[in-house]
Amino acid sequence: MRILVTGGAGFIGSHTADALLDLGHEVRILDALTPPVHAERRFPEHLRERGAECVEGDVRDREAWEKALDGVDAVYHLAAYQDYLPDFSTFFTTNTVSTALMYEVLVARGQPCSRVIVASSQAVYGEGAYSCPACPALRELRPGPRARERLDRGLWDLPCPSCETALEPVWTDESATRPHNSYALSKHGEESLALMLGDRYGIPTVALRYSIVQGARQSFRNAYSGVLRIFSQRVINGRAPLCYEDGRQLRDYVSVHDVTRANVLVLGDDRAVGRAFNVGGARRVSIRDYAALVIRAAGANCEPEIVGSYRVGDTRHVLSSTEALQALGWRPVVELPDVVDEYLSWVASQPDFRDVTSEADNRMYALGTLRRTR
Ligand SMILES: NC(=O)c1ccc[n+]([C@@H]2O[C@H](COP(=O)([O-])OP(=O)(O)OC[C@H]3O[C@@H](n4cnc5c(N)ncnc54)[C@H](O)[C@@H]3O)[C@@H](O)[C@H]2O)c1
Repeated sequence: MRILVTGGAGFIGSHTADALLDLGHEVRILDALTPPVHAERRFPEHLRERGAECVEGDVRDREAWEKALDGVDAVYHLAAYQDYLPDFSTFFTTNTVSTALMYEVLVARGQPCSRVIVASSQAVYGEGAYSCPACPALRELRPGPRARERLDRGLWDLPCPSCETALEPVWTDESATRPHNSYALSKHGEESLALMLGDRYGIPTVALRYSIVQGARQSFRNAYSGVLRIFSQRVINGRAPLCYEDGRQLRDYVSVHDVTRANVLVLGDDRAVGRAFNVGGARRVSIRDYAALVIRAAGANCEPEIVGSYRVGDTRHVLSSTEALQALGWRPVVELPDVVDEYLSWVASQPDFRDVTSEADNRMYALGTLRRTR
């Protein structure tokens, strides 16, 4: 097949392009090489060498889609804007409007397309699902965002609406969404639009809601995301990793290799069509434990530092259930220590890997997206 991968010069996109080339597909990449991820504005050399067609273009531009979609049988739409900055409109133009443009072009041309796979996110769940340990009747709560006045006082846990006991996270399935920041809303818009238009116009579409993806090639120039990058930058430079809140937030990190296998699976499995699936790591890891793992893997001698600040819009805990995708034969297999080792070996080969965490935090404090407790 000839397959278009938007965002194919990026982290997940480049691994996906590799996997598709391994399977003998022809790959075309559409990527705007946006800074800061692409400081040198270059496509990955190895993808060119492997025969991927690399096209520089912007997914917000209809003409770019018209050229990029020419003759393709399937599309992975992975290009996206993801950040903690208050440039709200960019999330929607890059993530949501681009998706509408892609379907506009496919529909206008009546182009046969055997699969569209859009990258969505665990962020569509907002705070995710919880139960109250003290109220047996409250088993599957989907609370809204945490109250600012509680966060300002360092009260991190969500209180039970009935008895105020701290709620405990449960594995969140795909049945309900509750996005509560611009990125999440833009991704929710993207997947909803894709699934609706795919169904209406007979374009088999799948949405994949990735949990936090980790691995080599994840940009370390984007100063505002990527816990593995943040911890590694600190530890390698002899500084303790900083954990926001109390460091007890739970996540289900997933390796980019497991994500790539999920991407490939849904390309050929018709049972996936018209559905949204979680793609997560299926293990609960606290931020604090993750920091300790990075310290051990790097052979450093320090402890995670709990700063008590919080990022506006962060979720307390969120854990995606992967049962639905597991029913199609996929499961995450890469262990977290292996993910960390792979990342640390990769950054060791990157000449410009430096600690930008203080600059990033200062900027976020100034913008009000990172806040101190009172
Ligand atoms: N990395 C994660 O943890 C994670 C988690 C959930 C969802 N996702 C989603 O997975 C997808 C891939 O993420 P990633 O981590 O590989 O990001 P990335 O930043 O490494 O790659 C994104 C690519 O998109 C390109 N791009 C950005 N704006 C563009 C535009 N206007 N036109 C064309 N190209 C543009 C960038 O140049 C970059 O190469 C995104 O849709 C993201 O929202 C990622």
